[in-house]
Amino acid sequence: MSPEIDERELAEPYLGGLLASLGLSVHYSRAEKDTLFYRDGTGREVSVLDLVGGYGSTIIGHNNPDIVAYAKELLDQGVPVHAQFSKHPYANDLALKVNAIIKREFGTSDDYAAIFANSGAEAVETAMKHAEFDRVAKLAELAERIDANIEKTRAAVGGGAEVVVDDVHRQLGTEAAVPAEAPLDEVVAAIRAVNGERMSAPPVFLAPEGAFHGKLVGSVQLTHNAGFRTPFSALAAQCRFVPVHEPDALAKTLESERRTLFDLTVDGRAVRVVEREMPVVAAFILEPVQGEAGIRLFDRDGALRIQQACAAADCPIIVDEIQSGMGRTGAFFAGSHLGLRGDYYTLAKSLGGGIAKAAMTLVRGSRYRKEFELVHSSTFAKDAFSTLIAGRTVDLLEAEDGKVYRTAVERGNRILDMLRKLQAEFGDVIKDVRGKGLMIGLEFHDQSGSSSAVIAEQSRAGLLGYVLSGYLLRVHALRILPTASATNTLRLEPSVHITDAEIARLESGLRGLLAALRDQDGAVLLPAEAAGDAGQ
Ligand code: F0G
Repeated sequence: MSPEIDERELAEPYLGGLLASLGLSVHYSRAEKDTLFYRDGTGREVSVLDLVGGYGSTIIGHNNPDIVAYAKELLDQGVPVHAQFSKHPYANDLALKVNAIIKREFGTSDDYAAIFANSGAEAVETAMKHAEFDRVAKLAELAERIDANIEKTRAAVGGGAEVVVDDVHRQLGTEAAVPAEAPLDEVVAAIRAVNGERMSAPPVFLAPEGAFHGKLVGSVQLTHNAGFRTPFSALAAQCRFVPVHEPDALAKTLESERRTLFDLTVDGRAVRVVEREMPVVAAFILEPVQGEAGIRLFDRDGALRIQQACAAADCPIIVDEIQSGMGRTGAFFAGSHLGLRGDYYTLAKSLGGGIAKAAMTLVRGSRYRKEFELVHSSTFAKDAFSTLIAGRTVDLLEAEDGKVYRTAVERGNRILDMLRKLQAEFGDVIKDVRGKGLMIGLEFHDQSGSSSAVIAEQSRAGLLGYVLSGYLLRVHALRILPTASATNTLRLEPSVHITDAEIARLESGLRGLLAALRDQDGAVLLPAEAAGDAGQ
């Protein structure tokens, strides 16, 4: 073995350089509650107030002591992490706990079947896959009914019934064949050809503009940000993005996606070609509070319109609670504030208590296809460790009659009040403050016309938020990031443990930032060498 140290950067080597250029390349060595620690050049431990919270994965804080103790206990007990294809009572306990919450928050008596996964994108893709499995099964059932009708028609024609040429029939383009020798065969062949083509068309998914549902092959197609999505658009099912805040947009999109299959019916001695509605849209997916889009809240009216439009079209709704769920907005499910009931729910992020990689997809019993369990699985999903940790996390959220939910609202309001006070003072810099509970966005006015060349340049490059993040970390030991799809918005998702003193520290750091932006002081915002490079 050579004693030389290999200093090449091979783990996502490009990102390392980008982080360094933004002043975000810090190696954290320890974490607790809302604090991450790193060691500076002298070996001194420096604490950073973390408002990123694992992109919303640490509602009960980093390394929650109860969860850590439980994790140690499980490892000491030798809980089998790998016991695939055996009985998993702890997974069932978790499913029962989450079902009890669904019943309470949505006032429903429906049971939801749970399927387990390892990450948010995977939970979304499980929902997509199940929705498509259900759609394909419905199509097959429809095709079977049409086949049976064709057989009935043959018998009727044998008994003297005649094919009627009308508008629907004309769409098939076989009217010339009708008075001829064997007209029915031609009509049936045309029906089969057209139906076969329509049935083989890929499904359509619908999502609101701004949607973010992950970056795997399927879920990235439900993610609106074109930079993430379009290089891979040939790989998976396609999604139409709907401007859902326009009142009729969803109903109109659903209407424009309607397709039919041709069928035959016998009415006395008349055989008619008729059309049957076929399922085209596999599902409509939405986040009750859009996270990656920069914290965008749905309102009750919007949610009601979505619910009505989807019910009218029998289109299942996937409510993605991966970021908004697990108590962050003051209820276990953010959609429960809106009365937004899903056919599917997805959970991940904080489900793992900040420790485990855990995710689950819940499917409403009336839509559930049990055969799905035979065609879908993952080596790592549903393991004892992650499901037990998730179960304990749900217990912590539910403890003391939902104290965590109340705390999320109280702490969130405290932060929102502070930010709104800053907005009143710095209205020229802050464009908007919005959020619910501990899901908060702080949006800045566009700075691309700034008198500071460096601020204007970074702003035009869509990097303003990252520059602000670098400044807050370097100068104020605050960790706050924008989202990739809303780079003028900083996202704040601390845990319920955030203290008044920490909120005061946050305020003081933000004041420094707002003053620098008001003064168009690029030299203060960027690290000395980067500002020099950019020709501040
Ligand atoms: N759905 C939502 C609503 C999300 O916010 C995310 C991830 C995912 C799905 C995918 O989860 O990363 O575990 O595969 N959101 C992060 C963010 C990346 O920055 O908002 P994943």
